[in-house]
Amino acid sequence: MHYIDPFYRYDLTLLERTISVAQREAKMNNIALFYAIKANHEPEILEKVRAYNLGIDAVSGEEIKHSLKHGFKPEQIVFAGSGKTYKEIEYALFENIRIIHCESVEEFYLIQNLRKKLNSTTQVALRLNPDFKIDTFDKISTGENTHKFGVTEAESVKLISEYGNEIIGFHVHVGSQIENLEYFKSLSKHIANLLDRFTNYHPAYLNLGGGLSINYKEPKKFPVPDFKGWMSAIRTYLPESKFPTLALEPGRSLVGQCGKLIAQVQYIKERNNCKIALLNAGMSALLRPMLYGAYHKVTTLNASFEFDTYKIAGPSCESTDVFHENYTIEKLFVGDIVEIHSTGAYGSSMQLNYNLKQAIAKKFITQSTQTIIKCTHEKAASSRKKVPNLRTSI
Ligand code: LLP
Repeated sequence: MHYIDPFYRYDLTLLERTISVAQREAKMNNIALFYAIKANHEPEILEKVRAYNLGIDAVSGEEIKHSLKHGFKPEQIVFAGSGKTYKEIEYALFENIRIIHCESVEEFYLIQNLRKKLNSTTQVALRLNPDFKIDTFDKISTGENTHKFGVTEAESVKLISEYGNEIIGFHVHVGSQIENLEYFKSLSKHIANLLDRFTNYHPAYLNLGGGLSINYKEPKKFPVPDFKGWMSAIRTYLPESKFPTLALEPGRSLVGQCGKLIAQVQYIKERNNCKIALLNAGMSALLRPMLYGAYHKVTTLNASFEFDTYKIAGPSCESTDVFHENYTIEKLFVGDIVEIHSTGAYGSSMQLNYNLKQAIAKKFITQSTQTIIKCTHEKAASSRKKVPNLRTSI
């Protein structure tokens, strides 16, 4: 059999198309975009983000450092994070990044002290926790007041009344993979109402974070998310007349659909009528299904017209290392190459080192051809023919 190592494959042509649509819509709505680098920090991806003049939303000192290293200017970087360390705040202020999104009262005092000490030009905005419920996985929702993120409305009222002239505005991020655009409309209403309560304060800066979903079920049909719908929903109650410039921080929506995890079927087993296809990539390469129960479409390049149902699992020493429990797909054979779709966001950036697994390779292609995969698959298929007993179809 012809073995291949698993790898992430990124379609830079699709990435570029996605960023250009997002940036076009943003310009039409007077919205500044900061890419949430946590979604994917590969240098080739960042190069495209930079080419379209987006800024960076960082959530750690290392993300700031990485962004600077890859050509972003300090004034293009904003910095959030519910538990920023003293060192990270000091570093951000020392580098004079654009804005720190402050997430607690204690952090505010720390930033103020260090800012003066370092004579930093970095400005401060408050990350407001709006206590707003959305419909997504609980584990990726962030805007209710039981969540650890941001300052409460009462805390922000107090800080603004005392230090309003030193606070440039507000940052809000209520969660990720929000499918229903109506939520963004009601979020914009909620924030507009909340801001009305600040009588003598008008924020010069208002950033509503990320959250736009991608279509995990039909990635081919919906390669570019609905940026237009998202931005006009956000603008519904926050019009340009009142807020000439808004900011957003897309992560998943920019990079999610351009990435695929390519893996190979290593073994096929049968247990009590359950067929298990064991891949050579699992939770250390892609954690989302195991961590959140997230769905990623899996396809094979096998031209079989027969279908079967499998548990699709990875190689880690954990029973939870399973992508799908009962997944119907073209009949799988040992050696087949499978594509795990929509893995450009929170895939490679969340890789684990568990079992001492090393980060897997990344390949970048510039047109939407399947060349690499086709070649590899053809090799795999031809060696399957030569060694018929390896064609383990159950
Ligand atoms: N801004 C802030 C402050 C954030 O915390 C995030 C994501 C974003 C922007 C970007 O949100 P997006 O556009 O990607 O929805 N690991 C999880 C997602 C965690 C999102 C964390 N924050 C997953 O794999 O679904």
